[in-house]
Amino acid sequence: MASAIGKTGDVPPGGVVKFQVEGKSIAVANVEGSLFGFDDVCTHLGCSLSQGMLDGRIIICPCHGSKFLVTDGSVTAGPASEALNTYAVQVVGDELHISMADSSPGAGDLEVDASTSVGVPAASDRERSYGALASVPLFASLEPASIESLEAFTFRKGFVPGEVIVEEGRTGNGLYIVLSGKVEVVKGLRGARPQTLAVFGPGEPFGEMALLADWKRSASVRAVDEVECLGMDRWAFLAYLNREPQLAIKMLQMLAQRLAETNEKLVE
Ligand code: FES
Repeated sequence: MASAIGKTGDVPPGGVVKFQVEGKSIAVANVEGSLFGFDDVCTHLGCSLSQGMLDGRIIICPCHGSKFLVTDGSVTAGPASEALNTYAVQVVGDELHISMADSSPGAGDLEVDASTSVGVPAASDRERSYGALASVPLFASLEPASIESLEAFTFRKGFVPGEVIVEEGRTGNGLYIVLSGKVEVVKGLRGARPQTLAVFGPGEPFGEMALLADWKRSASVRAVDEVECLGMDRWAFLAYLNREPQLAIKMLQMLAQRLAETNEKLVE
């Protein structure tokens, strides 16, 4: 059965808009007046495809560049290897309807008017991700809407007890935030006398500065028990900042403030 998801003007030509349908995030793309529905969640590491770029009938994932054909969900370029589910989109009066049964290629093929995009209610996973991102000091100066938009660039990853998440001396690729379980920060993990410096639990981030540059990790971080983390790759984050330079300025101001506070403490 088809569900009404919005108005015909909600998805402008060339646009991709996310809707929450029966608890799933579904993206609808408007390709020259034809509408195509597909899973918003990239089959690689779960980034939001509606935050990506629509290039003709190809949607490009904002995180690692996987490409999918919006007509049938097939992968045209990796790293993703699994196709997306696609959904038939229909226009009924001035409403958009979507059928959650998988569709065949080219299912929703009706003319719509250009207009503005609609917002999407947050699912509980998104709320959890939002809370985790809001706890990162680097994002402390950002508005809630900016933090929400960062969520599209995250992925979730699980670790088994004892697994090393980041290794001292290796170049860091990005940030992690603990969602569940505990991790320990260990100096000299591979040496004769490893030293535990700290233990982090849910909501606590580590590797924050690796978002900005490829500095070497100053300590290792290891899972104490079953751990789930929210991660964000540096290159995806920097690509996002390129598009939203005002966020970079806010973060720069916040970093300058932290530097000034550190200087003050050193002087004392
Ligand atoms: S390519 Fe989409 S999450 Fe990696």
